Amino acid sequence: MTNYSSIYSEMESEVRSYCRKFPGEFSKARNSELFTKDDTRYIDFFNMAGSLNYGHNNPYIKRAIMDYLSEDTVINAMDLYTEAKAAFFETMEKQILQPRNLNYKVMCCGPTGTNAVEAALKLARKNKRRTNIFAFSGAFHGMSLGSLAMTTDQTSREGGGIPLNNVTFVPYENNQVDSIAYIRHILEDDHSGIDFPAAIFVETTQAEGGVNVASVEWLKELRAICDEYDILLVVDDIQVGVGRTGYFFSFERAGIVPDMVILSKSISGFGMPMALLLMKPELDIFRPAEHNGTFRGNQLSFVGAKAGIEYYNDHCMGEEVQRKAKIVEEYLKNEIILLDARLSYRGIGMIWGIDFMKLGAENAIVCSHECFEHGLIIELAGRHDSVLKLMPALTIEDSILLEGLNIIKDSLISILK
Ligand SMILES: Cc1ncc(COP(=O)(O)O)c(C=O)c1O
Repeated sequence: MTNYSSIYSEMESEVRSYCRKFPGEFSKARNSELFTKDDTRYIDFFNMAGSLNYGHNNPYIKRAIMDYLSEDTVINAMDLYTEAKAAFFETMEKQILQPRNLNYKVMCCGPTGTNAVEAALKLARKNKRRTNIFAFSGAFHGMSLGSLAMTTDQTSREGGGIPLNNVTFVPYENNQVDSIAYIRHILEDDHSGIDFPAAIFVETTQAEGGVNVASVEWLKELRAICDEYDILLVVDDIQVGVGRTGYFFSFERAGIVPDMVILSKSISGFGMPMALLLMKPELDIFRPAEHNGTFRGNQLSFVGAKAGIEYYNDHCMGEEVQRKAKIVEEYLKNEIILLDARLSYRGIGMIWGIDFMKLGAENAIVCSHECFEHGLIIELAGRHDSVLKLMPALTIEDSILLEGLNIIKDSLISILK
């Protein structure tokens, strides 16, 4: 393993996290491979938490960014009008929204996902003049206080330092509770004690929550409830949007249209910071500067996002993800689950989870370490970190995908001995 310097433990805050799990000193990256300073190779099933769907250093997107940089072009322009922004809007409209019959206005938010979640919260409350929000058990929406109030893991919530209010949690789709019936029940019951919500925020597949894939029927029901009770439906597509599930937007498979959609992570195409809130035009009631921020105009992100959309369409990424999903699912079914009856798997597109809960969550942690020792970077998710989360770049080569899957299998075999 790389002998990395103590500068990090001396200088960097204790809050650092992923570097503790994957303690290499990385310097180069190409598609789904990462290389340390001393040239140790790792396969990347982590994908920087879903921010590199098009792979590290995607050559097409990189070219567009390098061309843009080769002139003295504007880099940060706040929300000034620029050619790069106009070109991105035009591509988004013509190549993504129009073909899907989606009519959204686009708000450029501060550069992290959580900032766009904050914008969506403010806008939902402002439109409906209600403070309460419904979110789901297992949800992850970010770390700033509004988003954190909708985020469920206890460690993150404790970090907030103040009470996290104005959110009611309802169960996500699961086998124990009919959450749709429960939501209807509390909305109908004038003695439920739960304030009527401005919006329901949902991830159509909970990523951090343990790769929980909501069914099409459940998502349709959710849309119907929102229509029936005049509640906004907000889809947080920060982690599972931009092709991850085999569709550009994760909600497409359910044939629903959310009132607002939040995008970040892979939308910039190249791993650069960018966050957007898409909203139905009639919801666009912020006054100028009401949700301001310095870094809402990173031009390299606009250039990357435009090139990313072009790449997505030119390479039929939706179909490509669905093809690769079959490879992963077959492998999990035939090579992994058979190793121990207590293991299970679930997923969609290019996000899959191996559930260790019945085998003991600690084994998932050991497995992730073991994978790293053998050259695979893979994260954990879910309750007690019990789910090994497979989330390679959508562009991963088939041979490297299989190589990564084989490392998981070998690691599991060594644990189960
Ligand atoms: C679904 C979802 N929402 C919001 C966020 C927060 O995004 P960011 O970390 O960029 O603030 C994340 C990050 O993992 C996420 O997965």
